[in-house]
Amino acid sequence: MKVITTIGDMKAVINKHHHQTIGLVPTMGYLHEGHVALVTQAKKENDIVVMSIFVNPTQFGPNEDFESYPRDFDRDVMLATEAGVDYIFAPSVTEMYPRTSSLHLHVGEMAQTLCGASRPNHFDGVVQIVTKLLHIIEPTHAYFGQKDAQQLAIIEALVRDYNFPVIIRSVPIIREADGLAKSSRNVYLTPIERQQAPVIYATLQQIQNEVWTIAEGIAHIEKVTTGKVDYLTKLSYPDLTKPTAETTAFILAAAVYIGTTRLIDNVIWEVT
Ligand code: PAJ
Repeated sequence: MKVITTIGDMKAVINKHHHQTIGLVPTMGYLHEGHVALVTQAKKENDIVVMSIFVNPTQFGPNEDFESYPRDFDRDVMLATEAGVDYIFAPSVTEMYPRTSSLHLHVGEMAQTLCGASRPNHFDGVVQIVTKLLHIIEPTHAYFGQKDAQQLAIIEALVRDYNFPVIIRSVPIIREADGLAKSSRNVYLTPIERQQAPVIYATLQQIQNEVWTIAEGIAHIEKVTTGKVDYLTKLSYPDLTKPTAETTAFILAAAVYIGTTRLIDNVIWEVT
């Protein structure tokens, strides 16, 4: 396993592997089993696996947690090595953004709903960094988790609409034993909040199974936790529009503030 920190060195390595399949796993580090599942899938399908570790400032809002986002590079290197990553690409912020660009990628309606509604410009920042990573590493395959289902749908649209020569692969959500979706941000939770957090997934399942309405689900979460629901919404997937009579694939997605920690989760299903 090799750690690479400059774009020049990364491109030199990629040149060496020109005739092989390359799987890219983009991350912001503080790795957990969700990230490892992406690597495991990438290893099955590629000769070489590159993981990027970069806390991307352009996808954080001014009052969000860029500065305090959890970081532990040495532990990440250990976990990535164990998982079978061949190269970690871990550039600095100035390596990735050496100058202010006057060119911006802007995501349209798909970024107005769900997380985009309360995180304006978040997905513009995601698309910016993912575009740069895809151009630097030129992977044959890139891996994204369904945990961030809106991000996955937007990246799939980017690649489709702008003919990026890469295959996007998605990996199901990895959960804790009690159902809480694994997330780097779970470390922010106090012990009591951690006990409450599985209610989000349990509630999504009750609504998916039509035991509760969405309004009942929101009321339940806010009754049994100290949390505040940012959104709990059912949309058509992957287009993220309001479901119609013709819709056959659905996403039920939620974002909940438990204390100051914003947790997201979703379930996706098809009807035939
Ligand atoms: P990060 O939050 O580190 O997540 C990296 C990848 O791991 C994403 O594709 C995410 O969906 C996936 N992931 C996270 N938790 C997961 C879980 N419990 N189960 C399955 N997959 C999971 O998402 C980002 O970083 C950034 O926005 C990035 C794409 C790297 C761009 O900066």
